[in-house]
Amino acid sequence: MIHDLVNVNQLSLEDVRHLITLATAFKQGAQVRLRQPAYAMNLFFENSTRTHTSFEMAERKLGLQVLPFVPSASSITKGESLSDTVKTLQAIGVNLVVIRHPQNEYYQQLLADNLQISIANGGDGSGQHPSQSLLDIITIFEEFKHFAGLKVGIVGDLAHSRVARSNAQLLQRLGAQIYFSGPKVWFAKDLQQWGQYLPLEDLIKQVDVLMLLRVQHERFAHVEEADFNAQTYCQQYGLTPERYQQLQPHAIIMHPAPVNRGVEIASELVESPQSRIFRQMQNGVYARMAIVAQLLA
Ligand code: NCD
Repeated sequence: MIHDLVNVNQLSLEDVRHLITLATAFKQGAQVRLRQPAYAMNLFFENSTRTHTSFEMAERKLGLQVLPFVPSASSITKGESLSDTVKTLQAIGVNLVVIRHPQNEYYQQLLADNLQISIANGGDGSGQHPSQSLLDIITIFEEFKHFAGLKVGIVGDLAHSRVARSNAQLLQRLGAQIYFSGPKVWFAKDLQQWGQYLPLEDLIKQVDVLMLLRVQHERFAHVEEADFNAQTYCQQYGLTPERYQQLQPHAIIMHPAPVNRGVEIASELVESPQSRIFRQMQNGVYARMAIVAQLLA
């Protein structure tokens, strides 16, 4: 049983298998009775559409009461620390907080506080995105029914992506082979422990799963941004119709979204037969239901 989920490394392979089974059951319509009443708050200090909405949908489907939280209207703007904010919510009776924050490992202090309230990480800087990893592996499992030996290519803005990190870590532990591509300068050192860099043309032909990543301009230095040209990027590193033809027929295309059409992927390929991008979003609700149900069990 897990009390918090901040990093995929906290999960044993048995935990992962259990979460997949639970999410699949929810997708097939299983109902669960939680310790009632339970209250959740979603603290998003970075913008989000999918993660925020699907956590809230998951909480509501499980029967939790969801209290609103608006960062700009909270006492964080008066200098209150995140730790004191979360302790406050615990004192008021909130059982679960989902937090997205620009600072890597913002959750360390909260874990050290040893709180009763459960914490789910909705993304920390370029660190971890465990709920995205879970929905991604559920989507892969639905397709292939196994992970061992699968070739997964992760392509794009590797430097700034928490999805690249948590997915590479988890998928490698599940037995998949990880390859990276995109601008070589973004192949951050820490990624080398999980997989090797390949030129895009080599990677495309052999992968079972192609994971594309958005270029995260909001985390860029202004100088780099000025040099960025969407069309050139797409030609060099994006999924173009020509590269789509090179994919194996059984290969699937994934993307955590938001998608910048015409940059990391040609617009017409976002909903192409091999794309699972909207399926990922659908599975995100069930993955998050499984996480919330486990944290509050
Ligand atoms: C990603 C994120 O926020 O890390 N999106 C998501 O949660 N689905 C990726 C991104 O913002 O590009």
